[in-house]
Amino acid sequence: MDWGLKNRLSRIIKSDGRTVMLAVDHGYFLGPTTGLEDAGRTIRPLLPYADALMPTRGVLRTSVDASASADTPIVLRVSGGNSILSELSNEGITVAMEDAVRLNVSAVALSIYVGSPNEKKTLLNLTKLVDEGQRYGIPVLAVTAVGKEMARDARYLALCCRIAAELGAHFVKTYYCEGFEKVVKTCPVPLVMAGGKKLPELEALELTHNAIKRGAAGVDMGRNIFQADAPVAMIQAVRAVVHENLSPDKAYDLYKSLKADKKSGKRSKLRGVTAKSEGAK
Ligand code: R5P
Repeated sequence: MDWGLKNRLSRIIKSDGRTVMLAVDHGYFLGPTTGLEDAGRTIRPLLPYADALMPTRGVLRTSVDASASADTPIVLRVSGGNSILSELSNEGITVAMEDAVRLNVSAVALSIYVGSPNEKKTLLNLTKLVDEGQRYGIPVLAVTAVGKEMARDARYLALCCRIAAELGAHFVKTYYCEGFEKVVKTCPVPLVMAGGKKLPELEALELTHNAIKRGAAGVDMGRNIFQADAPVAMIQAVRAVVHENLSPDKAYDLYKSLKADKKSGKRSKLRGVTAKSEGAK
């Protein structure tokens, strides 16, 4: 891997081989998603705990302070052109690599839709982006999007992840499924787990724990963090599972304790997970 590419990727995936990415790119096809109506307000308190932020360029420019986020690598969503009202797989590349460079991003992210009517188009989008990424030293995250009627089983997700890696993606984002370890083992690049729809907090922490135990390099989580009852407490609990191997029960205790502290203004007695700038791995 070229120096610049390796350096950027290591800003996202930390020295322990793991990452907590905060996905806030939902608006590119969902519009004003619950929790992101005022994206800046949602993102601001979560930034100190996110190893990387995954926005669109619109949200980045309008709602993320460039100085305040200086030590948070950006994984920029660069595919779109679809909406919740249309065929989801019909995506193109929406950002020129030149603009991604101008925004000083650490990686770009694009969805592929394997098995969809636009399979070939989205896979060729990926190869084009990888060629440009190689040229500028910018890693590419392939997101294995799933159509409404497609199974999220290990066979399908392993197919998607492997194709993404074979076409040159530097890391891959996919869903958790039964047999997830097979998806991880057959994918030669780091794999981060997508969060998916909002779950009760304990279940989201169990999902995170299961993915990490089965080889994920971390999570790229959105709704399960910013739609949680206490988003800042939730991202710290997720960090504890990802970076400190905390069990889901203990992480849930931490979540409840941080949530209660926020209400009372006290500091948690439970081992707190510090913001990344305070020394979290
Ligand atoms: C997926 O294609 C997009 O990147 C989503 O906006 C993102 O993955 C959603 O994150 P979550 O499912 O954790 O809310």
